[in-house]
Amino acid sequence: MRVHVADHPLIAHKLTYLRDKRTDSPTFRRLAEELVTLLAYEATREVRTEPFEIETPVAPTTGIKLSTPKPLVVPILRAGLGMLEGMVRLLPSAEVGFLGMQRNEETLEAITYANRLPDDLKGRQCYVLDPMLATGGTLAMTIRYLVERGADDITAVTLLAAPEGIKHLEEEISDLNVPVQLVTGAVDERLNEHGYIVPGLGDAGDRLYGLV
Ligand code: URA
Repeated sequence: MRVHVADHPLIAHKLTYLRDKRTDSPTFRRLAEELVTLLAYEATREVRTEPFEIETPVAPTTGIKLSTPKPLVVPILRAGLGMLEGMVRLLPSAEVGFLGMQRNEETLEAITYANRLPDDLKGRQCYVLDPMLATGGTLAMTIRYLVERGADDITAVTLLAAPEGIKHLEEEISDLNVPVQLVTGAVDERLNEHGYIVPGLGDAGDRLYGLV
């Protein structure tokens, strides 16, 4: 797995306000959206394109357009939804599929509690959105699920990641034969005993949507 930490002053600036516990939910949502658009710019560097003939008012020329099948953006419910607008702002022609995944803490098996994805993902480039790469469990399950259905190129986009989570994710998907990339705003210090990223930003779902 390739890990790209998108360090840019604007990203660090927005992350600082996202981390600040005084930032309210409406501001948090707006900042998360802006931050994702910046991350999306990095994440789509290798989006597939094909040549496209056009004519300018002056002369014919060859440009590019996104290839088909179009990329698939997959926000992981619930907190990944807060990243969707920021991502599709840059990729308006992408398709969007939804996935809700949870781990059964006793059997450790993946439970898919919501699935609105095409059945056949053959040849699809997928962008998975999940704000916090903490233990890496959900992201690993999601990536495996997409690859089993034919996806052949996966980019995970997260606001923050924990070193332990990156390591665990790398181990969990090491047998997959497709390129996987992680684009994140920052890699923090560690996970605490409750599975929160330190210093992190708290519970991303609660910060986005308030406590429900
Ligand atoms: N999920 C969150 O929302 N925050 C963390 O710090 C870890 C997992």
